[in-house]
Amino acid sequence: MLDGDAVVGYIVGNFDESASDDFLRAALWRINVAAEAQGSGVGKFAVHALADEARKRGFSRITVVWESGQEGPEEFFKAVGFTVIGETPYGENLGALDL
Ligand SMILES: CC(C)(COP(=O)(O)OP(=O)(O)OC[C@H]1O[C@@H](n2cnc3c(N)ncnc32)[C@H](O)[C@@H]1OP(=O)(O)O)[C@@H](O)C(=O)NCCC(=O)NCCS
Repeated sequence: MLDGDAVVGYIVGNFDESASDDFLRAALWRINVAAEAQGSGVGKFAVHALADEARKRGFSRITVVWESGQEGPEEFFKAVGFTVIGETPYGENLGALDL
């Protein structure tokens, strides 16, 4: 994501209709917002952009995996609309955002 000429963050997603696990078909893999740009809506903008792209491609939800913990991104993911739908075999949270 750009703010003028400055890169203030990035998001990485993956779309794979043939993935064997349903939660891997339209997934947010990574999101990062520059420290000085956090809290100003950049992350939310990025998630909406990924959601729009997924919708265009015919997916009905996007998923994300995160580790619990106070410093983690859980509150952010919940604030932008993800709900916890389960746990991975490694004990991480599995969240989904319906489109
Ligand atoms: C998590 C991260 C992507 C959030 O990006 P951001 O641009 O700061 O978030 P936004 O400003 O778009 O916030 C969107 C909403 O989430 C909420 N939110 C964001 N971070 C939060 C936090 N740590 N605690 C509580 N709420 C939070 C905001 O209050 C906002 O809520 P609102 O829409 O009700 O006003 C960013 O902090 C980051 O890059 N963190 C380090 C990397 C990381 O943890 N990545 C995720 C794992 S891949």
